Amino acid sequence: MIIAIDGPAASGKGTLAKRLAAHYGLPHLDTGLLYRAVGKAVLDQGGEPADPVAAAAAAQMLDLAQIDEMALKADLYGNAASVVGAIPAVREALLAFQRRFAATPGGAVLDGRDIGTVIAPEAEVKIFVTASPEARADRRLKELVGRGEPADAATVLADIRKRDARDAERTVAPFRPADDAHLLDTTHLAIEPAVRAALDIVEAFRAGRGRG
Ligand code: C5P
Repeated sequence: MIIAIDGPAASGKGTLAKRLAAHYGLPHLDTGLLYRAVGKAVLDQGGEPADPVAAAAAAQMLDLAQIDEMALKADLYGNAASVVGAIPAVREALLAFQRRFAATPGGAVLDGRDIGTVIAPEAEVKIFVTASPEARADRRLKELVGRGEPADAATVLADIRKRDARDAERTVAPFRPADDAHLLDTTHLAIEPAVRAALDIVEAFRAGRGRG
């Protein structure tokens, strides 16, 4: 069973993906980390994330074994990720790895922006996680404060809106729900009820195919 989870920044998709993967014993890939790692590699080399040549080269040379989730959490890399993610050659370079992961025998959980539409349109379960920009900015702000990073509410909200717009407006793999995705709005949901709602979606699928 492939579970595809797409959603904007701070929608809760990462937490939901991890929890579903643990629940069903499936491997999990946070595809945002790939784009973040490319953005970081470009910045580390003193390059511009918007430079298609530098970004494509970084994507082609990406060493997946070196991906360090904690080091990639900073908003700086989230923003760089959304810039490199708009470059077709970058998406192309990261495609095969993600598709292979999705095809893991026994299934997999992937989260990102284009899992249900481009990476695994064949996924049995697609969940599109949403939440209002204000709710997401509030979560992000708490996360930043928790990590001791400087944070300002208005800047965080503006960044979230900017990233949403960039992801939705790009020409290649624009961020949008697959036609057959289940929408899960977490604006007013804490983590546990959101996990329950996601499990209900997966269980409804399993019951439907006779593995209830
Ligand atoms: O999910 P996360 O915040 O880590 O993603 C960072 C950025 O990477 C997103 O804003 C998006 O531009 C890009 N991304 C993408 N496609 C994915 C995952 C992430 O374009 N499948």
